Amino acid sequence: MIKQGKSYSKDGHIAFIVGNEFKTVEGIPTIVEEQAKKFIASDEKTDYIKLGEQFIFFVKENDDLEKMRVAGYETRTKLSKEAKELFISGKGASALALAEGLALSNYQFLKYFKDADKKRYQLENITLLDAFEAKDIIRLNNTTKAVYWSRDMVNEPLSYLTAPQLAKEIKAFESVENLTVKVLDKKKIEELKMGGLLAVNLGSIDEPTFTIVEYKPKNPKNKKPIVLVGKGVVYDTGGMSLKPTAGSMDSMKSDMGGAACMAGAIYAAAMNELDLHLIALIPATDNRPGGNAYVPGDVITMYDGTTVEVLNTDAEGRMILADALAYSNELDPELVIDAATLTGAAVAAIGQKASCVMGNAKQETIDALVKSGYNVHERLAQMPFWDDYAEEVKSAIADLKNLGGKYAGSITAGKFLEHFVKSPYIHLDIAGPAYLDSVDNYKGKGGTGVGVRLLNNFFENY
Ligand code: BES
Ligand code: ZN
Ligand code: ZN
Repeated sequence: MIKQGKSYSKDGHIAFIVGNEFKTVEGIPTIVEEQAKKFIASDEKTDYIKLGEQFIFFVKENDDLEKMRVAGYETRTKLSKEAKELFISGKGASALALAEGLALSNYQFLKYFKDADKKRYQLENITLLDAFEAKDIIRLNNTTKAVYWSRDMVNEPLSYLTAPQLAKEIKAFESVENLTVKVLDKKKIEELKMGGLLAVNLGSIDEPTFTIVEYKPKNPKNKKPIVLVGKGVVYDTGGMSLKPTAGSMDSMKSDMGGAACMAGAIYAAAMNELDLHLIALIPATDNRPGGNAYVPGDVITMYDGTTVEVLNTDAEGRMILADALAYSNELDPELVIDAATLTGAAVAAIGQKASCVMGNAKQETIDALVKSGYNVHERLAQMPFWDDYAEEVKSAIADLKNLGGKYAGSITAGKFLEHFVKSPYIHLDIAGPAYLDSVDNYKGKGGTGVGVRLLNNFFENY
């Protein structure tokens, strides 16, 4: 927890954010002051000294908040597991960013370790010694909580997180004010004729779910809702178009990263009491080659009546998203945003340092999202979205096919999805940054929760 505190206690560690001068804190020995002066004169960005077991960190104040977050991560790496409290002496956005980086680095997914308690970081409090708006601290804690939730979901294996379980986890958000969750089960999905979601689910034993989360505060700024759609493929084997295991199927428990992002984003927005009306739609299933699994060559009738020729069962994300996007039309939104670990092509294009963004919404709306990406360092790279690309998903025997040509796979997937949405639309392909095989500072290893902080910032500035 990040909190506000009046005084430093020697039981804790302390991080000083140092500008051109050093402002000491009561109870700190004078040797720290001498060290701080040396640090100011040096070119180092961070430094520390140890007084017995206690760490005293120095971090140069930086307007680039990402540098402060990374310094927060570096602080975490030096602290022992047993450290309980860290004080931060410093003002403004840079101190909050340092606290944020530290809090995000304090995340661990230990559920499946027998000796989890031994491995657990004991850091409970990050205490800010300077004055801050209470609201800023509350929001930072809430957003961090939502990122933790989102990371947990991505890190959970299929052996726990089936589609019905994911729906149950989201249902628990209902304890937050003005937030409601409705879970549609298989029977209801059949009644609604969500052909894409049902087709992908044919090879599974677990039932699909379609979860609708609505956050409606008293006086929202927007008359028409913003609809968020997240790909909830709780496991992607590829289906009959089976994926190879190494470096491919082995990380596909993360294929609900879009669902974790959008559910996490609406959860954060509700906890932060943002004045926006939001609805999140989460279609969820695993994608398996069992039983009566859909096969290449099948023609599927989607929720809105569009027919789709399936040419690769591994292009399942667009099948389930299409139904959710078509469902959004009934909600008459002013903007629809989806997030999905949709294509390997997005990763091939820009790697894991950013997500691809594309869409037909006003460029100023896309620009605002891109700007939020820089604000929180969840960067976006915009792809072209020209109509020519849509030619590649036309089928010879049905309205569409679920496979594009050899090139521009992330864009042709986006054009496929666009077909189903009537409102201004933005598509986020988060396949790269949603799940990391090795630690990338405060983003950690495994599920990153990417998109939650991005959307939170976008909504705050909307
Ligand atoms: N879930 C994958 C995309 C993916 C790849 C996510 C790597 C994260 C990391 C998606 O369902 C998929 O398999 N897409 C295919 C589409 C192709 C068959 C048109 C792909 O990208 O290869
Ligand atoms: Zn797939
Ligand atoms: Zn997938």
